Amino acid sequence: MTIVSIKRLDKGTIERIAAGEVVERPSSVVKELVENSLDSKASHIVIEVRDGGASLISVADNGCGISQDELPLALERHTTSKITTDADLWQLTTLGFRGEALASIGAVSKLTISSRVDGAQGASVTSVGGQVQDLKTSPRPTGTTVLVEDLFFNVPARRKFMSSPRSETVRAVRAVSDTSMAHLDVHFKFVSNQTVLLDLPPTADARGRLALIHSPTEAKEMLRIEHSKDQMFVCGFLTRPGLTRSNRTHLTILVNNRPVTSKEIGKAVLLGYDQRIARGRFPYGFVHVEVPSKEVDVNVSPTKSEVRFKNASFVASAVVRAVRKALEDSSEATPPPNIVAHRLVAPKPKIVHDSQRTSSQQQHLAVHT
Ligand SMILES: Nc1ncnc2c1ncn2[C@@H]1O[C@H](COP(=O)(O)OP(=O)(O)OP(=O)(O)O)[C@@H](O)[C@H]1O
Ligand SMILES: [Mg+2]
Repeated sequence: MTIVSIKRLDKGTIERIAAGEVVERPSSVVKELVENSLDSKASHIVIEVRDGGASLISVADNGCGISQDELPLALERHTTSKITTDADLWQLTTLGFRGEALASIGAVSKLTISSRVDGAQGASVTSVGGQVQDLKTSPRPTGTTVLVEDLFFNVPARRKFMSSPRSETVRAVRAVSDTSMAHLDVHFKFVSNQTVLLDLPPTADARGRLALIHSPTEAKEMLRIEHSKDQMFVCGFLTRPGLTRSNRTHLTILVNNRPVTSKEIGKAVLLGYDQRIARGRFPYGFVHVEVPSKEVDVNVSPTKSEVRFKNASFVASAVVRAVRKALEDSSEATPPPNIVAHRLVAPKPKIVHDSQRTSSQQQHLAVHT
C-alpha cells in the first residue's frame, strides 16, 4: 500500500475552500452584503448586478460606514464588530456574526469597499483574490459601497456551476425580496443590467410590500396569519388554497428577522392547510416566527440560512395553528367536499381578478385588506 504523506494546505487554498462554504453563487454574495447593510442600520440599499452577478455585484448603503483604519481588518477572516464571545450567539441582535463574509467574498473575486463614517474622510480598499492591493482616501457620502467583480475568477470549477444569468438574477432578487419582508422600514432597490427589477420603498404595511414583490392581485388574495403562544409569535401572509405554485421557493420563511430555509416550518404551513391543497402544489407568501434568541441556534451552517430550534415541535404546532386559524376565519373554513376533490385533481394556480368576483367575494376580501 502506498503511504501518502500529510501536507499542510497553502493559505490561498485554505481561504478558497472556506470561501466556498459561504459563497455558493452570486445570490449568496447579495445576501451577505445586504445583511451587512442592514446591520449597519442603513435605511436605503441599492443592489446592482450585471450578467446575473458574474461580472459585477454592487451593494450601496447609507449606513454607519467603516472607518479607514478598519477597512483592511473588515477583509480579514474572523473579524467582526458584532459579537465578542460565543455566548453572544444566544443573544444576537445582528444578521452577521461569523466575521467571514467579506473575507470569503474577497477570496474569490476582485473586491472594492468604499466607505465613510460620519465626521471622517471617506476611504476605499481593493483586494484581488484576497490580496489587499490598495487603501486610499476617497470622498463619498456616509455609508458603504461594496463592489464585487469577476466572481470566481480564480475558482473556474465554481464559475462553471453557475446557472444562466437570468436564473442567477432571479435567485438574487429573491434573496433581497425575502430579506425585505423583515425590514419594511428600509428602501430596497434592485437593478439588473440597468433595469430596475425591484423598487421597495419603506412601508408600514406588509401586504403593500407583497403587492410589489408578487402582484397587487396576489397580495390581496393572501390571508393574514397570526398566533402567539408563551413567548413565541407567528405572523405572516399566505395565499388562499386556490392560489398555489408548483414549488416551495416562493414561500419566504423568516425566523427572528432572518430569512431561512426550514423544512419543519414549510411542512407545518402545508399541514395547516389540511387537505385543501393538492399534493405537489404549494402556497406562498411569508411566515415570520419570532422566538426568544436563546431558543434558536442560528449558527448551524456558514451560510446562516438554517436554524435549529430547541423545541421544533412547539414551533411547528404554533405555525400549524396560525395557518388553520386564518383559514377557519375565512370562507375557506369548510369547503364543500366537491371543491376539495376538484382542487386535488386540478391544482392549477388561479388568480381571480376583482372584476370577476361576486359581490360577496369582494366583501370578504375587503375584511382582509
Ligand atoms: N455595509 C457595511 N456597513 C458598515 N460596516 C460593515 C459593512 N459591511 C461590513 N461591515 C463591517 O465589517 C465587518 C466584517 O463583515 P463580515 O460580513 O465579513 O462579517 P460579519 O457581518 O461580522 O459576520 P458574517 O460573516 O456572519 O457576515 C462587520 O462586522 C462590520 O463591522
Ligand atoms: Mg456580514
